[in-house]
Formats: sequence, structure tokens, C-alpha cells
Amino acid sequence: LGSKLIGCGSATPSLTISNDDLSKVVETSDEWIATRTGIRSRRVLSGDETLGGLSVQAAQRALEMAQVRPEDVEMVIFCTSTPDDLFGAAGQVLAEVGCTNAFGFDITAACSGFIVGLITATQYIKGSGYQNVLVIGADALSQYVDWTDRGTCILFGDAAGAVLVQACSADEDGLLGFCIQSDGNGQKHLHCSGSNAKSIMSKSNGVPSFPPKKGTFSCIEMNGKEVFRFAVRCVPQSIEKALEEAGLPASSIDWLLLHQANQRIIDAAATRLSIPSEKVLSNLANYGNTSAASIPLALDEAVRGGKVKTGDVIAASGFGAGLTWGSAIVKW
Ligand code: ACO
Repeated sequence: LGSKLIGCGSATPSLTISNDDLSKVVETSDEWIATRTGIRSRRVLSGDETLGGLSVQAAQRALEMAQVRPEDVEMVIFCTSTPDDLFGAAGQVLAEVGCTNAFGFDITAACSGFIVGLITATQYIKGSGYQNVLVIGADALSQYVDWTDRGTCILFGDAAGAVLVQACSADEDGLLGFCIQSDGNGQKHLHCSGSNAKSIMSKSNGVPSFPPKKGTFSCIEMNGKEVFRFAVRCVPQSIEKALEEAGLPASSIDWLLLHQANQRIIDAAATRLSIPSEKVLSNLANYGNTSAASIPLALDEAVRGGKVKTGDVIAASGFGAGLTWGSAIVKW
């Protein structure tokens, strides 16, 4: 049994924030941001827009391309670190899309979330006979950014992307190899910690003091240099491991599709893998780092723009908080 991607879709918020807009609120410049990161602008949720709403649009577009009816989807995997509901947002999204026969759940693995979701989908298909699994990567990190911290607020944007993964015969298999890894020791370099990491109930002489405080999350805190070093070291290794599992050489890669965090990270990984720049997909100039959405968003633009064609081999890799990282070799 195999699994293949047969549709993709994406959606982004209507409000664009340019580097010049940010230079009015923090001490930075378009020149600094563009040269250090490659980012020119990002989209951020505003007004009535919600992450769930964007996710529904992305999912509908993926189903339309795949020509699969919502009621034929058996599982919805919602990859996000910023759900509209702390208990999980997959249920709301699948209900709005009309996936009435699907079970849905959330996966939290920051910017690696989509790769983890894709691999999870293929395990359900190959191991348990599922036919149609919708994988959505969506994040609205704008909610957790400290907009006074120029080291982080320039990086992130909001978006949603989705793919439909379908069962197929082994010789049509489109998920050829993968690799996922974690290193919790690196969590200190990139986190958005919850107050529930500490106790919220205070006590005096063993007597509880009601009411306890409400749980909250801090803003994103990042040691950019450490995350940069981690990404440049681990991403090429992870792609090499996934290629080995697929039994393919790096020269068979038609497209390198990395999590869109920083153009310098993308370029360094491409150089280490000897992949020429014309085979590298990048759209972070327009959207910034959209976390779990960045890979399906860039994939969707490349497919709809006619770059990625049927049969092309894509090396996709996500990396981020956790620390987590993972790669998948996919035939489109
Ligand atoms: N504008 C102007 N100056 C700035 C800005 C800014 N926006 N941000 C930092 N600076 C200054 C610093 O204060 C520092 O000044 P100093 O030399 O006087 O101390 C100088 O620029 C250099 O700062 P660095 O942090 O060393 O800059 P660096 O070249 O490392 O770039 C960046 C910072 C862009 C954050 C980079 O480290 C990076 O992209 N790291 C990876 C982040 C990432 O990929 N995260 C992905 C995971 S996200 C997730 O999982 C949720």
C-alpha cells in the first residue's frame, strides 16, 4: 500500500504588514530585515479573521483540487501551535468543511508540525487502511509575538495550508522516505512557555488559597543565533537520512522545500546539499515565517504557479521549537 498527495490549498490573511510598517514601531529597517532574513512583508490576522477560518478555506481548496468530497475524508490532522481552542481546533475546522465522517485531532510540533502531520497521515493510510486524510498546517504566531522585540516581531506571519493524502498502490507511492527528530535540551533557545509550567495555586501553611491564577502563555522568546546554527546543522542531515530511506541520491531532488524561516538558512542548507538555487522554493519574502503553514503554503503556490509538476520529487523539511525537525521525500 502507498500514499500520495493529490491536492493542496492555502489561505492568508488580508492585512499586509511591510518592513517599513514595522520600522515605525521598533528600531529596525527594511534593509536590515531583508538582508538578514529575506523577509519583505507578512500577513497578520485582523478584524473578524480567525485561524480556523483560514484553515477552512485552505482545506476546501485542497479538496477541490483533489476532487474529493468532504464526507469522504476519514481523518483531519490539524497541525498548529496556536489553536483557536486550547482543547484542539480540528473538530471545528472539520465541521465547517463538512467532513462529517472524519475523526480530527491537533498536532503541536511548532514549525515541524506539518511534516509530522504528513508522516502521521501516511502511517494511518499504510498501517490502518485509511483512504483520505486531510493534513492542515496553520498558525497565527502574531498572537504570541512581543511586538516591542525587534529580534522576533519581524519574523512571523499568519497563514494556513492543507494537503489531501490518499491511499494508492505501492508502485504509485508518493511518500518515499522520512525522518523526524527532537532535542528537548534546545527548548531554552526557542519557546513560548505557559504559566502552567509553574504551579498556579498558591498556599499558605499547606492551605490552598482560592482562586488560583488563570493560566497564560508568555510571548515567543528566541535565541536567534542558536536556532540558526541548529537549523543549518540539522536540516541537511535530516534530508540525507530521509533520502537514504527513500533509496534516492540528492541529485534526484527536483525541489527543495524548507520551512520558510530565513532565506540564509534555506541557502545554507541548499549549499550543503549541493542543490542549485533554481531548485529551491521560497516565498518567505511575502509571508515571513508562518510556522506550521509555511511548507503547504509554499507548496500550494508552487503547484498552482506551474513550477511543481506531477512526478517531481520534493525534499521537504521543517524545523523549529521543541526543538523538533523532520524531513519527508515526497513525489508530487
Ligand atoms: N533590526 C535591526 N537590528 C536588529 C534587529 C532588527 N530587527 N534584530 C536584531 N538586531 C540587532 C541586534 O540587536 C544586534 O545588535 P548588536 O550587534 O548591537 O548587539 C545585531 O542586530 C545582530 O543581532 P543578531 O541576533 O546577532 O542577528 P542575526 O544575524 O543572528 O539575525 C535572526 C537575527 C534574523 C533572528 C536570525 O538569528 C535568525 O533568523 N535565526 C533563526 C530564527 C528561526 O529560524 N526561527 C525558526 C523557528 S521559529 C518556530 O519554530 C516557532
